[in-house]
Amino acid sequence: MEIQDWKTIGFGYRKTNLNVRCYYKNGEWGELQLSDSEYLNIHMAATSLHYGQEAFEGLKAFKGKDGKVRVFRMDENAKRMQHSSDGILMPHVPIETFKEAVKLAVKKNIEFVPPYGSGASLYIRPLLIGVGPEIGVRPSQEYLFIVFVMPVGPYFPEGFKPTDLLIMRQFDRAAPLGTGKYKVGGNYAASLTAGKKAKAEGYSAVLYLDAREKKYLDECGPANFFGIKNNTYITPKSESILPSITNKSIIQIAEDMGLKVERRQVPVEELETFEEVGACGTAAVISPIKRVYDADEDKEYLYGNEPGTWSTKLYEKLRAIQDGDAPDPYGWVTVIE
Ligand SMILES: Cc1ncc(COP(=O)(O)O)c(C=O)c1O
Repeated sequence: MEIQDWKTIGFGYRKTNLNVRCYYKNGEWGELQLSDSEYLNIHMAATSLHYGQEAFEGLKAFKGKDGKVRVFRMDENAKRMQHSSDGILMPHVPIETFKEAVKLAVKKNIEFVPPYGSGASLYIRPLLIGVGPEIGVRPSQEYLFIVFVMPVGPYFPEGFKPTDLLIMRQFDRAAPLGTGKYKVGGNYAASLTAGKKAKAEGYSAVLYLDAREKKYLDECGPANFFGIKNNTYITPKSESILPSITNKSIIQIAEDMGLKVERRQVPVEELETFEEVGACGTAAVISPIKRVYDADEDKEYLYGNEPGTWSTKLYEKLRAIQDGDAPDPYGWVTVIE
Protein backbone atom coordinates (compact mmCIF):
# COMPACT_ATOMS: atom_id res chain seq x y z
CA MET A 1 0.00 0.00 0.00
CA GLU A 2 1.08 3.61 -0.63
CA ILE A 3 1.67 5.89 2.35
CA GLN A 4 -1.41 7.84 1.24
CA ASP A 5 -3.57 4.69 1.56
CA TRP A 6 -2.21 3.97 5.02
CA LYS A 7 -3.40 7.42 6.12
CA THR A 8 -6.99 6.53 5.29
CA ILE A 9 -7.26 2.90 6.40
CA GLY A 10 -9.20 3.83 9.54
CA PHE A 11 -9.64 1.76 12.70
CA GLY A 12 -11.31 -1.48 11.68
CA TYR A 13 -10.88 -5.24 11.49
CA ARG A 14 -8.57 -6.59 8.78
CA LYS A 15 -7.56 -10.16 8.17
CA THR A 16 -3.89 -10.99 8.57
CA ASN A 17 -2.02 -14.31 8.32
CA LEU A 18 -2.00 -16.09 11.64
CA ASN A 19 -3.27 -15.73 15.18
CA VAL A 20 -1.95 -17.24 18.39
CA ARG A 21 -4.08 -19.36 20.73
CA CYS A 22 -3.61 -20.95 24.10
CA TYR A 23 -6.13 -23.10 26.01
CA TYR A 24 -6.63 -23.39 29.76
CA LYS A 25 -8.02 -26.77 30.85
CA ASN A 26 -7.88 -28.81 34.07
CA GLY A 27 -6.34 -25.87 35.91
CA GLU A 28 -3.40 -25.28 33.57
CA TRP A 29 -2.34 -23.44 30.47
CA GLY A 30 -1.28 -25.38 27.38
CA GLU A 31 1.27 -24.46 24.71
CA LEU A 32 0.92 -21.53 22.30
CA GLN A 33 -0.58 -22.62 18.98
CA LEU A 34 -0.75 -20.86 15.62
CA SER A 35 -3.99 -20.75 13.66
CA ASP A 36 -4.85 -19.42 10.20
CA SER A 37 -8.57 -19.42 10.96
CA GLU A 38 -10.48 -16.28 11.89
CA TYR A 39 -13.16 -18.39 13.56
CA LEU A 40 -13.55 -20.14 16.90
CA ASN A 41 -15.38 -23.35 17.49
CA ILE A 42 -16.73 -22.96 21.02
CA HIS A 43 -19.53 -24.44 23.08
CA MET A 44 -22.88 -22.66 22.73
CA ALA A 45 -23.13 -22.49 26.54
CA ALA A 46 -19.70 -20.83 26.90
CA THR A 47 -19.70 -18.31 29.78
CA SER A 48 -18.20 -15.60 27.56
CA LEU A 49 -21.28 -15.69 25.33
CA HIS A 50 -23.91 -15.65 28.07
CA TYR A 51 -22.44 -13.92 31.08
CA GLY A 52 -19.78 -11.72 29.50
CA GLN A 53 -16.89 -13.61 31.04
CA GLU A 54 -14.29 -12.11 28.74
CA ALA A 55 -11.52 -9.54 28.91
CA PHE A 56 -9.40 -7.99 26.19
CA GLU A 57 -6.43 -5.75 25.67
CA GLY A 58 -5.23 -3.36 22.99
CA LEU A 59 -1.64 -2.40 22.23
CA LYS A 60 0.37 -1.37 19.21
CA ALA A 61 3.55 -2.12 17.27
CA PHE A 62 5.31 0.55 15.22
CA LYS A 63 7.88 0.38 12.45
CA GLY A 64 10.84 2.71 12.91
CA LYS A 65 13.00 4.61 10.44
CA ASP A 66 15.56 1.85 11.07
CA GLY A 67 13.06 -0.79 9.87
CA LYS A 68 12.77 -2.31 13.35
CA VAL A 69 9.35 -3.16 14.78
CA ARG A 70 8.71 -2.00 18.34
CA VAL A 71 5.87 -3.08 20.64
CA PHE A 72 4.85 -0.51 23.26
CA ARG A 73 4.58 -1.48 26.96
CA MET A 74 3.26 -5.02 26.53
CA ASP A 75 4.15 -5.89 30.14
CA GLU A 76 1.63 -3.26 31.30
CA ASN A 77 -1.10 -4.79 29.11
CA ALA A 78 -0.20 -8.24 30.46
CA LYS A 79 -0.62 -6.97 34.04
CA ARG A 80 -3.86 -5.20 33.23
CA MET A 81 -5.32 -8.35 31.70
CA GLN A 82 -4.51 -10.17 34.96
CA HIS A 83 -6.27 -7.37 36.85
CA SER A 84 -9.32 -7.67 34.58
CA SER A 85 -9.26 -11.44 35.12
CA ASP A 86 -9.36 -10.94 38.90
CA GLY A 87 -12.44 -8.76 38.42
CA ILE A 88 -14.48 -11.44 36.64
CA LEU A 89 -12.97 -14.62 38.10
CA MET A 90 -10.83 -15.82 35.23
CA PRO A 91 -7.39 -17.40 35.62
CA HIS A 92 -4.33 -15.19 35.05
CA VAL A 93 -2.60 -15.53 31.72
CA PRO A 94 1.03 -15.68 32.93
CA ILE A 95 2.93 -12.48 32.03
CA GLU A 96 5.51 -14.46 30.04
CA THR A 97 2.81 -16.35 28.10
CA PHE A 98 1.12 -13.04 27.25
CA LYS A 99 4.38 -11.49 26.05
CA GLU A 100 5.43 -14.56 24.05
CA ALA A 101 2.01 -14.69 22.36
CA VAL A 102 2.18 -10.98 21.45
CA LYS A 103 5.70 -11.31 20.05
CA LEU A 104 4.75 -14.41 18.06
CA ALA A 105 1.60 -12.79 16.63
CA VAL A 106 3.60 -9.73 15.51
CA LYS A 107 6.42 -11.83 14.07
CA LYS A 108 4.07 -14.04 12.07
CA ASN A 109 2.35 -10.99 10.58
CA ILE A 110 5.35 -8.71 10.30
CA GLU A 111 4.54 -7.72 6.71
CA PHE A 112 1.34 -6.08 7.98
CA VAL A 113 3.18 -3.54 10.15
CA PRO A 114 2.59 -0.22 8.36
CA PRO A 115 5.65 1.73 7.21
CA TYR A 116 7.40 4.40 9.25
CA GLY A 117 5.85 7.82 8.75
CA SER A 118 2.49 6.50 7.55
CA GLY A 119 0.62 7.43 10.73
CA ALA A 120 -0.70 3.85 10.84
CA SER A 121 0.45 1.06 13.16
CA LEU A 122 -0.15 -2.61 13.92
CA TYR A 123 -2.95 -2.98 16.48
CA ILE A 124 -2.62 -6.05 18.70
CA ARG A 125 -5.74 -7.50 20.28
CA PRO A 126 -5.28 -10.08 23.07
CA LEU A 127 -8.56 -11.68 24.15
CA LEU A 128 -9.39 -14.03 27.04
CA ILE A 129 -12.75 -15.82 27.02
CA GLY A 130 -14.54 -18.38 29.13
CA VAL A 131 -15.26 -21.32 26.79
CA GLY A 132 -16.55 -23.96 29.18
CA PRO A 133 -20.31 -24.66 29.26
CA GLU A 134 -22.21 -23.31 32.28
CA ILE A 135 -25.86 -22.41 32.40
CA GLY A 136 -25.87 -21.21 35.99
CA VAL A 137 -24.08 -17.92 36.59
CA ARG A 138 -20.65 -19.13 37.60
CA PRO A 139 -17.13 -18.96 36.21
CA SER A 140 -16.05 -21.30 33.43
CA GLN A 141 -13.64 -24.16 34.05
CA GLU A 142 -12.02 -23.65 30.63
CA TYR A 143 -10.59 -20.62 28.86
CA LEU A 144 -9.12 -19.56 25.53
CA PHE A 145 -6.50 -16.83 25.17
CA ILE A 146 -6.07 -15.48 21.64
CA VAL A 147 -3.85 -12.78 20.16
CA PHE A 148 -4.57 -11.39 16.72
CA VAL A 149 -3.29 -8.30 14.94
CA MET A 150 -4.24 -5.90 12.15
CA PRO A 151 -2.94 -2.66 10.64
CA VAL A 152 -4.94 0.41 11.72
CA GLY A 153 -5.08 4.15 11.29
CA PRO A 154 -6.09 6.52 14.09
CA TYR A 155 -9.26 5.69 16.06
CA PHE A 156 -10.62 9.21 15.65
CA PRO A 157 -10.37 9.69 11.85
CA GLU A 158 -9.24 13.26 12.39
CA GLY A 159 -5.95 11.94 13.89
CA PHE A 160 -4.08 14.70 15.69
CA LYS A 161 -6.80 17.26 14.86
CA PRO A 162 -9.07 18.57 17.56
CA THR A 163 -12.53 17.01 17.86
CA ASP A 164 -15.66 17.54 19.98
CA LEU A 165 -16.91 15.65 23.04
CA LEU A 166 -20.48 15.38 24.35
CA ILE A 167 -21.68 15.23 27.96
CA MET A 168 -25.06 13.51 28.52
CA ARG A 169 -26.31 12.61 31.98
CA GLN A 170 -28.84 9.94 30.98
CA PHE A 171 -26.17 7.30 30.27
CA ASP A 172 -23.60 5.60 32.49
CA ARG A 173 -20.85 3.40 31.17
CA ALA A 174 -20.00 1.70 34.46
CA ALA A 175 -21.20 1.73 38.07
CA PRO A 176 -19.01 3.23 40.81
CA LEU A 177 -18.32 -0.17 42.38
CA GLY A 178 -18.80 -2.07 39.14
CA THR A 179 -16.42 -3.23 36.40
CA GLY A 180 -15.39 0.10 34.85
CA LYS A 181 -11.79 -0.34 35.95
CA TYR A 182 -11.51 -3.66 34.10
CA LYS A 183 -11.22 -4.07 30.35
CA VAL A 184 -14.22 -6.37 30.02
CA GLY A 185 -16.79 -6.56 27.22
CA GLY A 186 -19.81 -5.59 29.33
CA ASN A 187 -18.54 -2.04 29.77
CA TYR A 188 -18.34 -1.61 26.02
CA ALA A 189 -21.80 -3.07 25.37
CA ALA A 190 -23.08 -0.59 27.97
CA SER A 191 -21.49 2.29 26.05
CA LEU A 192 -22.88 1.51 22.58
CA THR A 193 -26.14 3.48 22.76
CA ALA A 194 -24.54 6.65 24.10
CA GLY A 195 -21.62 6.33 21.68
CA LYS A 196 -23.94 5.95 18.69
CA LYS A 197 -25.95 8.99 19.71
CA ALA A 198 -22.81 11.11 20.17
CA LYS A 199 -21.37 10.05 16.80
CA ALA A 200 -24.69 10.66 15.03
CA GLU A 201 -24.56 14.22 16.36
CA GLY A 202 -21.00 14.75 15.11
CA TYR A 203 -19.05 14.18 18.34
CA SER A 204 -16.01 11.92 18.47
CA ALA A 205 -16.98 10.45 21.88
CA VAL A 206 -19.06 10.79 25.03
CA LEU A 207 -17.40 12.44 28.01
CA TYR A 208 -18.85 10.40 30.88
CA LEU A 209 -19.46 11.88 34.31
CA ASP A 210 -19.17 9.88 37.53
CA ALA A 211 -22.24 7.67 37.80
CA ARG A 212 -22.88 8.35 41.49
CA GLU A 213 -23.12 12.14 41.62
CA LYS A 214 -22.73 13.32 38.01
CA LYS A 215 -20.40 15.96 39.38
CA TYR A 216 -16.97 14.82 38.23
CA LEU A 217 -15.40 13.91 34.89
CA ASP A 218 -14.77 10.19 34.35
CA GLU A 219 -13.44 9.34 30.87
CA CYS A 220 -14.14 9.81 27.16
CA GLY A 221 -15.57 6.67 25.60
CA PRO A 222 -12.52 4.50 24.84
CA ALA A 223 -9.94 6.93 26.21
CA ASN A 224 -8.92 8.72 29.42
CA PHE A 225 -9.46 12.46 29.78
CA PHE A 226 -6.88 15.11 30.61
CA GLY A 227 -6.87 18.89 30.97
CA ILE A 228 -3.89 21.22 31.15
CA LYS A 229 -3.67 24.61 32.87
CA ASN A 230 -1.00 26.62 34.68
CA ASN A 231 1.72 24.14 33.65
CA THR A 232 -0.25 21.33 35.31
CA TYR A 233 -1.50 18.10 33.70
CA ILE A 234 -4.75 17.10 35.40
CA THR A 235 -6.50 13.76 34.89
CA PRO A 236 -9.51 12.28 36.70
CA LYS A 237 -9.10 9.85 39.56
CA SER A 238 -12.09 7.52 39.61
CA GLU A 239 -12.94 3.94 40.56
CA SER A 240 -14.93 3.44 37.36
CA ILE A 241 -12.42 4.35 34.65
CA LEU A 242 -9.90 2.13 32.91
CA PRO A 243 -6.33 2.81 34.08
CA SER A 244 -4.93 3.86 30.70
CA ILE A 245 -1.37 2.84 29.88
CA THR A 246 -1.11 5.78 27.47
CA ASN A 247 -2.17 8.15 30.25
CA LYS A 248 0.36 6.59 32.63
CA SER A 249 3.06 7.10 29.97
CA ILE A 250 2.04 10.70 29.26
CA ILE A 251 2.11 11.44 32.99
CA GLN A 252 5.72 10.24 33.12
CA ILE A 253 6.67 12.30 30.05
CA ALA A 254 4.81 15.36 31.40
CA GLU A 255 6.67 15.19 34.70
CA ASP A 256 9.97 14.87 32.90
CA MET A 257 9.08 17.90 30.77
CA GLY A 258 8.51 19.91 33.94
CA LEU A 259 4.72 19.84 34.12
CA LYS A 260 3.09 19.29 37.49
CA VAL A 261 0.73 16.32 37.52
CA GLU A 262 -2.53 16.02 39.45
CA ARG A 263 -4.61 12.85 39.49
CA ARG A 264 -7.76 13.81 41.33
CA GLN A 265 -11.49 14.31 41.04
CA VAL A 266 -12.19 16.91 38.34
CA PRO A 267 -15.52 18.76 38.74
CA VAL A 268 -17.40 19.39 35.46
CA GLU A 269 -17.23 23.17 36.00
CA GLU A 270 -13.45 22.97 35.94
CA LEU A 271 -13.75 22.46 32.16
CA GLU A 272 -14.10 26.24 32.01
CA THR A 273 -10.59 26.75 33.36
CA PHE A 274 -8.50 24.41 31.16
CA GLU A 275 -6.17 25.82 28.53
CA GLU A 276 -5.97 22.48 26.70
CA VAL A 277 -8.08 19.34 26.85
CA GLY A 278 -7.51 15.91 25.32
CA ALA A 279 -8.42 12.23 25.17
CA CYS A 280 -5.66 9.63 25.39
CA GLY A 281 -5.43 5.90 24.76
CA THR A 282 -3.72 3.30 22.60
CA ALA A 283 -6.20 3.81 19.79
CA ALA A 284 -6.74 7.54 20.32
CA VAL A 285 -3.02 8.26 21.09
CA ILE A 286 -3.52 11.89 22.13
CA SER A 287 -6.61 13.37 20.54
CA PRO A 288 -6.89 17.08 21.25
CA ILE A 289 -10.38 18.37 22.00
CA LYS A 290 -11.62 21.68 20.63
CA ARG A 291 -15.06 21.73 22.21
CA VAL A 292 -16.98 19.96 24.98
CA TYR A 293 -20.75 20.37 24.81
CA ASP A 294 -22.78 19.75 27.96
CA ALA A 295 -26.13 18.83 26.42
CA ASP A 296 -28.12 18.90 29.68
CA GLU A 297 -26.92 22.36 30.67
CA ASP A 298 -26.75 23.60 27.05
CA LYS A 299 -23.28 24.86 27.80
CA GLU A 300 -20.18 24.69 25.64
CA TYR A 301 -16.52 24.81 26.55
CA LEU A 302 -14.12 25.88 23.78
CA TYR A 303 -10.39 25.21 23.48
CA GLY A 304 -9.43 26.50 20.01
CA ASN A 305 -9.26 24.81 16.64
CA GLU A 306 -5.57 23.91 16.77
CA PRO A 307 -3.84 21.42 19.10
CA GLY A 308 -2.39 23.16 22.19
CA THR A 309 1.34 23.58 22.81
CA TRP A 310 1.60 21.02 25.61
CA SER A 311 -0.63 18.46 23.90
CA THR A 312 1.57 18.74 20.80
CA LYS A 313 4.80 18.34 22.79
CA LEU A 314 3.45 15.34 24.70
CA TYR A 315 2.11 13.74 21.52
CA GLU A 316 5.39 14.19 19.66
CA LYS A 317 7.49 12.80 22.50
CA LEU A 318 5.26 9.77 23.00
CA ARG A 319 5.20 8.98 19.26
CA ALA A 320 8.97 9.49 18.98
CA ILE A 321 9.58 6.91 21.72
CA GLN A 322 7.14 4.49 20.10
CA ASP A 323 8.79 4.86 16.67
CA GLY A 324 12.33 4.67 18.03
CA ASP A 325 13.07 8.28 17.00
CA ALA A 326 13.77 9.30 20.60
CA PRO A 327 15.67 7.44 23.32
CA ASP A 328 13.56 5.17 25.50
CA PRO A 329 14.86 5.94 29.00
CA TYR A 330 11.88 4.15 30.58
CA GLY A 331 12.35 0.78 28.85
CA TRP A 332 8.90 0.97 27.27
CA VAL A 333 9.55 -0.59 23.89
CA THR A 334 10.36 -4.17 22.91
CA VAL A 335 12.05 -4.67 19.56
CA ILE A 336 10.71 -7.73 17.75
CA GLU A 337 13.71 -9.78 16.71
C1 LIG B 1 -12.58 2.68 28.41
C2 LIG B 1 -11.17 2.94 28.04
N1 LIG B 1 -10.51 3.93 28.66
C3 LIG B 1 -9.23 4.21 28.37
C4 LIG B 1 -8.53 3.49 27.42
C5 LIG B 1 -7.11 3.82 27.14
O1 LIG B 1 -6.26 2.87 27.70
P1 LIG B 1 -4.84 2.55 27.05
O2 LIG B 1 -4.08 3.83 27.05
O3 LIG B 1 -4.22 1.56 27.95
O4 LIG B 1 -5.09 2.06 25.69
C6 LIG B 1 -9.16 2.43 26.76
C7 LIG B 1 -8.47 1.57 25.78
O5 LIG B 1 -7.88 1.88 24.83
C8 LIG B 1 -10.52 2.16 27.06
O6 LIG B 1 -11.16 1.18 26.42
